[in-house]
Amino acid sequence: MTTAPLNVFPEALRDSARMVQRTRESRLTRRRMGERIEALSLSDRRAVLEEFHPDHRESGRGTLSVGASKGSAVPVELVALLEAWPRPLVMQLLEKNRAAGILTPDVTTDVLVIGGGGAGTAAAIVAAEAGARVMVVTKLRHGDSNTVMAEGGMQVADHECDSPAQHFLDVMGGGHFSSNPDLVEVLVSEGPAVLRWLEELGMLFDKYPTGRMKVRHGGGTSRKRLHAAGDVTGLEMMRVLKDRMDCLNAITVMPFAPAVELISDENGRAVGAILEQLPGGTPLVVGAKAVVLATGGFGRLHLSGFPTSNHHGATADGLVLAYRAGVPLRDMQNCQYHPTGVVFPEKLAGLLITEKFRGLGAQLLNRHGDEFVFSLEPRDVTTAAIIRECSEFGNGVQVSGGAVGVWLDIPLIDQIHGRGTIEREFPGRFKEYLRMGLDIRQVPLLAYPTLHYQNGGVVIWPNGGTDMPGLFAAGEMTGGVHGRNRLMGNALLEILVFGRRAGASAAAFAKGVKHAQEPGLGHLEAYLDQLVSAGIQPGQTSPRLLPAYGTVRPI
Ligand code: SIN
Repeated sequence: MTTAPLNVFPEALRDSARMVQRTRESRLTRRRMGERIEALSLSDRRAVLEEFHPDHRESGRGTLSVGASKGSAVPVELVALLEAWPRPLVMQLLEKNRAAGILTPDVTTDVLVIGGGGAGTAAAIVAAEAGARVMVVTKLRHGDSNTVMAEGGMQVADHECDSPAQHFLDVMGGGHFSSNPDLVEVLVSEGPAVLRWLEELGMLFDKYPTGRMKVRHGGGTSRKRLHAAGDVTGLEMMRVLKDRMDCLNAITVMPFAPAVELISDENGRAVGAILEQLPGGTPLVVGAKAVVLATGGFGRLHLSGFPTSNHHGATADGLVLAYRAGVPLRDMQNCQYHPTGVVFPEKLAGLLITEKFRGLGAQLLNRHGDEFVFSLEPRDVTTAAIIRECSEFGNGVQVSGGAVGVWLDIPLIDQIHGRGTIEREFPGRFKEYLRMGLDIRQVPLLAYPTLHYQNGGVVIWPNGGTDMPGLFAAGEMTGGVHGRNRLMGNALLEILVFGRRAGASAAAFAKGVKHAQEPGLGHLEAYLDQLVSAGIQPGQTSPRLLPAYGTVRPI
């Protein structure tokens, strides 16, 4: 085995990187002999989670004092947003609404989709195919979302040795049996149909020369069922979704038009939204017969100061809108910290190093080059084990500036599967790191948990409906599918299964109703009354729309 020059790393990291090279041969031999580090028992998993997972930090948790989930524990950063007052533009329109008794829309549509990622785009396609007039409004450009940043794959049980029932058990177990089983049943049973749909739309999945789909393991899965397009799975997915949407020629897309408040009618039905167009903040009131919220997650709130793998728009906007309208939340105190975010080079800090590397054999190693955790534990367990290794055991690799990490031994993959595997399976990351001077065929990467996914969210029904009539929701902003912990590859599946369902349900709902007679902001008046009763005065405003930056590093 050849050893790579390690002068790509700062001096302080080289000795430890050398240990990774030194232990590689013996780790490989052990692997070939079928020996592997044992997965943790259920009680050991629970113990490491309770002591080291960031969800369990008291300091990060607050309690909601208003709204449909009053009394629930959620991250403090989210309490601040949910208990904030509306943005100034909304307050101006509220005054207008109070004076006129009505908020007249500037434009109308049948179905308004808020969010232009995978879930929103899937919803828009299905709603338009059902004959609805559809408008998609998105905060940034169409497609700017966590979907396009998803690298490793999508779980679907489509091989002979697998079944939706097996997939169901994995999702339930991975989520600590806290998921809504009705939602999980829908997720896993509609997986094969979604896979066929994507293939029909032209998505290029990894396949063998025979045409058979390649499938891989993800953490916590009992079968290989991850379908990928190299390491750019979400980007490739969004390519075909956008193509399909353009071909339909029936959907209006408004980029740079974030929704800052829903509008409702006298019966409490969702009948549109207020947009604050960027730049400048010109208001636009859109009237709709049904609304789909698909605004994604909250990674850019940088909970507890963690870096994030998320796109810049992930600031929980849809949660704020839905919560003010009376829709309850669930599992919000459970956040996903992906075990492997970039630590070095620092300019990529927090960005994703896909789990697919571990699915193909890359091992997690401490500063001595020793494996300390089975690399394919469920995500929350791997994350907690990394934090323990660095904090309690002091076995992390210190980087100048205070950051710490563990090694991900990527070159092992070519040793296991043959030369060329890394370049072929990870074309995106291979080129990205090469540009930074890091040849991942030769050197390991330094990683530490990064805020990746919002496990919980607004409560939805299996058809994508919510407690507010006329309001549907899908994707990362919803809760219940993954319970307290999502397994890799179930997010890309979820956005399509439930995006499509929300789009179909919204189109069907829109067919049966007329545009509101008296659109307005009654739900907001009720929420402001609650804020006032709880002693919360105007001050901070939400939704935030863009992240507030300060110093962000792991603690
Ligand atoms: C990854 O590739 O590791 C992330 C994909 C996911 O979160 O499902």
